[in-house]
Amino acid sequence: MKKVDILIRPGREEDLRALLDGFGVPGITVSHVLGYGEQRGRKEMYRGTELESRLLSKVRFEIVLKDEQVEPLVEMLVKNLSTGNIGDGKIFISDIASVIKIRTGDKEI
Ligand SMILES: Nc1ncnc2c1ncn2[C@@H]1O[C@H](COP(=O)(O)OP(=O)(O)OP(=O)(O)O)[C@@H](O)[C@H]1O
Ligand SMILES: [Mg+2]
Repeated sequence: MKKVDILIRPGREEDLRALLDGFGVPGITVSHVLGYGEQRGRKEMYRGTELESRLLSKVRFEIVLKDEQVEPLVEMLVKNLSTGNIGDGKIFISDIASVIKIRTGDKEI
């Protein structure tokens, strides 16, 4: 099992949720977070002086799914979410050791 963390700019939550619904993910956790990437939150130059780095609002979607679903999911996301602009977001993939459903004790996603 893997966890896919998708970091996107606010305002794209509904688009992403619809894409994930269409893909058929088993579940979604969403949080509002702060962060920055390569540009360190700097948006522009102001009178020739670069503005200080700052934290930007971002939305994080977390999805745990089967290994073989990761590649098709990532491919679909890049195809549908990329605008070519900086700040389009980033996807992180990590290993998950186990999942337990509390109601039944099942170890299935
Ligand atoms: N190396 C990283 N470690 C942890 N979080 C990161 C990292 N890179 C990006 N993020 C998170 O992902 C968010 C989205 O990043 P962003 O889309 O700006 O990526 P980027 O690498 O700067 O690419 P781009 O040049 O397209 O903007 C950041 O605001 C931050 O929360
Ligand atoms: Mg960036």
